Amino acid sequence: MEVNGSVAVVTGGVSGLGLGAALRFLDQGASVAMLDVNEDQGARIVAEMGDRARFLLCDVTDPQGVASAVAGVKEMLGRIDVLVNAAGIAPAQRVISRDSDLFDLELFRLVITVNLIGTFDMIRNVAGVMAANELSTAGERGVIVNVASIAAFEGQIGQAAYSASKGGVVGMTLPIARDLGSLGIRVMTIAPGIMDTPMLAGAPQELRDALAKLHVFPQRLGTPADFAHLVQAIVENPMLNGEVIRLDAAARMPPR
Ligand SMILES: NC(=O)c1ccc[n+]([C@@H]2O[C@H](COP(=O)([O-])OP(=O)(O)OC[C@H]3O[C@@H](n4cnc5c(N)ncnc54)[C@H](O)[C@@H]3O)[C@@H](O)[C@H]2O)c1
Repeated sequence: MEVNGSVAVVTGGVSGLGLGAALRFLDQGASVAMLDVNEDQGARIVAEMGDRARFLLCDVTDPQGVASAVAGVKEMLGRIDVLVNAAGIAPAQRVISRDSDLFDLELFRLVITVNLIGTFDMIRNVAGVMAANELSTAGERGVIVNVASIAAFEGQIGQAAYSASKGGVVGMTLPIARDLGSLGIRVMTIAPGIMDTPMLAGAPQELRDALAKLHVFPQRLGTPADFAHLVQAIVENPMLNGEVIRLDAAARMPPR
């Protein structure tokens, strides 16, 4: 699918990886709707982006909010060709803490609700809109790109909830691609390694350097631009479907 002239929805679109994808889409001639809970940042960013950018306040854990945001994008921009599901949270907790506290079950539920159920809710609502698109010359109606993590495969200490949520995203990629294939909608997932985004901003330089060394080559943190480059490649390559791509410079995470 051509990025130029398309309409993209990006959740988590006002920060980090989502913002990187939104900026690249705009640069390549797409219209972009950024859905996020961070209203201040959304208003600030969209004001600098020109008239092909929109911000919609949307919490992916709120089914009514998701349905009305997706309907709002369709109303504002006419259709939806691409969805990037980048909204996510990554709180860490051990199953049993050093003080013998048990993992907070509400926190576990929250991580699953945002990262897994929120992603699925966006997919079903946006696929409903994509299904009404005219077929492109390549026979496509839409492309969906999810964001998992290499923690889906090598979760570290404290990542039980996060890894479960991202493992869920990995697991549902193929069946959703199979469900939507007859409509001409492709579904892919990117599993990033350690990326330099606000999620990592609080980390001291020493830790950032140590994390970068987990990448084999190139031995640096990934960037939102690296992510955005892969998103565009996925959108443009019609044979990519139902698969998870690691974007991690050959990193394999140790236990901690
Ligand atoms: N940064 C990394 O190293 C890394 C590695 C692997 C995977 N990821 C994944 O990439 C995605 C983006 O992460 P990032 O590093 O850009 O983080 P980020 O914190 O910079 O951006 C995440 C965005 O999601 C938004 N968000 C959070 N909860 C939301 C909700 N309920 N509804 C709508 N928006 C919500 C936040 O407001 C924020 O703008 C996440 O799914 C994360 O798990 C990040």
